[in-house]
Amino acid sequence: MIVNDKLYQTVWIEGTSVFMIQQNLLPFKFEIHECKTYWDTCMAITDMTIRGAGAIGAAAGYSMAQAFLQFRDDPEKAIRVREARQDIENTRPTARNLFYAVERVYHAGLISPESAMVEAQKVAQKDSADSKRIGELGSDLFKKKANILTHCNAGWLAFVDYGTALAPIYLAAKQGKEVFVYVDETRPRNQGGKLTAWELYNNGIAHVIIPDNAAATLMSQGKIDMVIVGADRIAANGDVANKIGTLGRAILAKEFNIPFYVAAPTSTIDIDCATGKEIPIEERDQEEVLYQSGIDKNENPVQVLVCSPGSKALNLAFDVTPAKYITGIITEKGIVKAHHQSIKKLLEEL
Ligand code: MRU
Repeated sequence: MIVNDKLYQTVWIEGTSVFMIQQNLLPFKFEIHECKTYWDTCMAITDMTIRGAGAIGAAAGYSMAQAFLQFRDDPEKAIRVREARQDIENTRPTARNLFYAVERVYHAGLISPESAMVEAQKVAQKDSADSKRIGELGSDLFKKKANILTHCNAGWLAFVDYGTALAPIYLAAKQGKEVFVYVDETRPRNQGGKLTAWELYNNGIAHVIIPDNAAATLMSQGKIDMVIVGADRIAANGDVANKIGTLGRAILAKEFNIPFYVAAPTSTIDIDCATGKEIPIEERDQEEVLYQSGIDKNENPVQVLVCSPGSKALNLAFDVTPAKYITGIITEKGIVKAHHQSIKKLLEEL
């Protein structure tokens, strides 16, 4: 993706350092964050310097490769890299891509640190290629004119490049289709209002940010033709874990007869999770709900308490949308029904 006339990916590796776009500073500041050790990369995933299923998958893969390089001369290197794997897997529990990437890179690393590095690069490259293909397949779903609702950020910032839910939108616009995007603000961290809006603005895509509670009214007024969201983990039966609030949009879409699509690569599918009930749902710090962050008039970063002091907050980061609400899952291998049989067949073809 081009930012300030330069081509960027969300995350990449140079030598033994992992570099990433510092997403906590967006949209106010564009900065690159360097992670010199596997632990630095873990911290960047935990504090959401990097976030989004594919992007944290790629970062986790790089972190695993960094650990193999860091401990290559350690007499207890087998123990050290196993501990590092644990640390990486403990960063965030929900996104399947993180575990998928660590597994692949760990096994490659048992051959040599160089193999771990090659594998981590392959994971990141596949992430980008899959997203591109999702864009091609998904854009065919749009008519000449389409009003789309999206939740959270499943754009290129959430993957290595292109994105999932936003990739079809970018391509449709390039193909000359008239696309308009309603962007859910997505509290508490506002990935929609901050990141999706920033991406769309930079790409010249017509959009408007809406408060999270506006979707029902807009749908009832016939203003939304389709909902597209990303996914953090897809269970074998087609249930989908995604950013908290997705379930509400899916139920509404069914009520108003609006197609509800999930866009995600097959690496987001967890065949070992029979249903969405088994997907681990991350609970994050209550401060993310109680405080909002932004910049003041002088462009200095500020955090403001926006809730009643003394009250506690519950901060579940994801919810699970049952398969019955999902019109289709747009993967790099094709658009499939959110159904056990279709998902099994899809994975057999890999
Ligand atoms: O907590 P985040 O920002 O990492 O969560 C990301 C999401 O839930 C996105 O909605 C997305 O669909 C999954 S990543 C493409």
